[in-house]
Amino acid sequence: MPTTVVVGGFFGDEGKGKIVSYLALKDSVAATVRGGVGPNAGHTVVHEGKQYKLRMLPSGIVNKSSQLMIGPGVLVNPNVLLEEIQRYDAVSQVLVDTRCAVISEEHISRDSRGYLKNGIGTTGTGTGPANSDRVLRVGRLLRDVKEVSDFLGDVPSEVNRLVDEGRPVLVEGTQGTFLSLYFGTYPYVTSKDVCASAICSDVGLGPKKVDEVLVVFKAYVTRVGSGPMEGELGEEEAARRGWKEVGTVTGRARRAAPFDFELAKKAVMLNGASQLAVTKLDVVFPECAGVTEYGRLSVEARRFVEKIEDATGVSVAVIGTGAAVYDTVDRRKESG
Ligand code: IMP
Ligand code: MG
Repeated sequence: MPTTVVVGGFFGDEGKGKIVSYLALKDSVAATVRGGVGPNAGHTVVHEGKQYKLRMLPSGIVNKSSQLMIGPGVLVNPNVLLEEIQRYDAVSQVLVDTRCAVISEEHISRDSRGYLKNGIGTTGTGTGPANSDRVLRVGRLLRDVKEVSDFLGDVPSEVNRLVDEGRPVLVEGTQGTFLSLYFGTYPYVTSKDVCASAICSDVGLGPKKVDEVLVVFKAYVTRVGSGPMEGELGEEEAARRGWKEVGTVTGRARRAAPFDFELAKKAVMLNGASQLAVTKLDVVFPECAGVTEYGRLSVEARRFVEKIEDATGVSVAVIGTGAAVYDTVDRRKESG
């Protein structure tokens, strides 16, 4: 498997964690490398009866022989990082870049009140204030945090070495295209760009080193926090369809809407998608739960997938049909 960057196509919570964990196992990756903003992300992974809730570590954690790296563009909350390393027994796998900027208690407190909390509806995890301090060049870097020194190193050098050796590497993005500071619904966005090129930049990988850009969509759209959302359903209707979700990081109810083909087209353009994944197909088409072969999906479900392909001009390579890693249809097998 070549170098693949995985990003979200809507407003985050598309199920990137599930897709990354599947690819990390299936393709026996040498490393999963986290780009993106920081611990405002919440990636949920279910494997062998165990649930992982990840805010800092990459979702490749289910593959015990994958290195788990965090690129210098990512903000790190040292407490969250250390807690996850311990909880998931990942000491021997982790390498975090020395140049990651640090989220302090003061950043969290600034993110938990006033305009950011009430106007934007941020996750309150300190990422916006920490990025702003970094831009002002007054932020602290991880190299000055003694507690994490065992895990620090030069992530871009290690990632590029693996890629140059032809080893399979996954680059994991966070949030989603329309939460991008540049391309999203400003000011209702996160604190930096989160499209594929930015995620590669976060980990120090040049654009020509990436072979596949995989954009993940959920079979419906959700959004937490403020900001516009086309076709938003009332709470009752969302609940009736089984689309009412709760945020991994904040516990807030997510707003829901049907799949947005226009947004999907834009996301494909902005990320230069070469492949798509669609998750939670079983939530929209319950008869598809746990299916692992494309031909066994219902006619309606296949029609939906093909409609996405027709609208975007990109093939849907991976489909999620349940929470567990292997509740997955992998169409890459069919074409390759
Ligand atoms: P911040 O990233 O915490 O500054 O929040 C800015 C906006 O992005 C808010 O609407 C958040 O709800 C949203 N957001 C940030 N991270 C995520 C995520 O991982 N999933 C979904 N929404 C997110
Ligand atoms: Mg999430």
